Amino acid sequence: MILKKIYNKILHKNYRNFPKIKKFYTNFFNSRTAWIDELSLRMENKNFEMDGKYSFSPHSPITNPYKVLDWLIDRLQPFFEYFDKKNVSSILEIGCGYGVSTWIIQDKFKEATGLDISKNAIDTANKLFPEINFVQSDVSEYFKKNPNKKFDVILSCYGPPINLEEIMKHCNYFVRVGYRPKKINGAIFKMNEKYQGLQLAFSTTVVSEEFKKNQIYKFYFKYYLSPFFFRNFVDSITKKFIPL
Ligand SMILES: C[S@@+](CC[C@H](N)C(=O)[O-])C[C@H]1O[C@@H](n2cnc3c(N)ncnc32)[C@H](O)[C@@H]1O
Repeated sequence: MILKKIYNKILHKNYRNFPKIKKFYTNFFNSRTAWIDELSLRMENKNFEMDGKYSFSPHSPITNPYKVLDWLIDRLQPFFEYFDKKNVSSILEIGCGYGVSTWIIQDKFKEATGLDISKNAIDTANKLFPEINFVQSDVSEYFKKNPNKKFDVILSCYGPPINLEEIMKHCNYFVRVGYRPKKINGAIFKMNEKYQGLQLAFSTTVVSEEFKKNQIYKFYFKYYLSPFFFRNFVDSITKKFIPL
């Protein structure tokens, strides 16, 4: 536990605009208890439906309250660090699941919308985080119904397949976390299995008009030191398969 605290302090930037991450996670005196207190207050006197296996996924705060922060913050670290100081204020999170990540993201993005196709996930998200705007919809249906909607950022962390051209009509930056390269060299050096853009980390890309060519972010290799990315890296070599 103490090692994890030291690790978090060293490896994460001192976020200016994500106070929830600081409070629960990266400050040396961060508190998991504070997170559990917050969550239990939000759950008080509410009933939550279970939805088969999906309810037990690691990003569910109901069944995995201790794991969910690690799960989301590990995966989204490059995203948080990159956008911490950027001048952006609206975001759509595609495949937001139970809404914990949208709730964290809302610290920085004053206009945050979480979108997911799962009724169970969105019902739960609405009960837990009523201050956030959640939409239950398939992503392409959503844009058909809202052809003029535009966000500064659209984020998809292990979300559904999307039509990139379509998505770029609705945002300035599209951030994709969790691409799945088929080959080892595709995972490590070649860019042909990633979208073109700013390669923030091993499996995080920012697509934008700003990046007409592939660019490797200056901290790209730093993320190999984090447990989540390091595990992916090792897996890609030892198992010769698709690192997530
Ligand atoms: C693998 S989960 C990822 C959840 C979370 N973002 C994470 O990183 O842990 C994928 C999410 O995408 C949602 N999803 C799948 N197809 C979708 C679609 N067509 N439109 C919107 N959301 C979709 C699922 O319901 C699920 O919550």
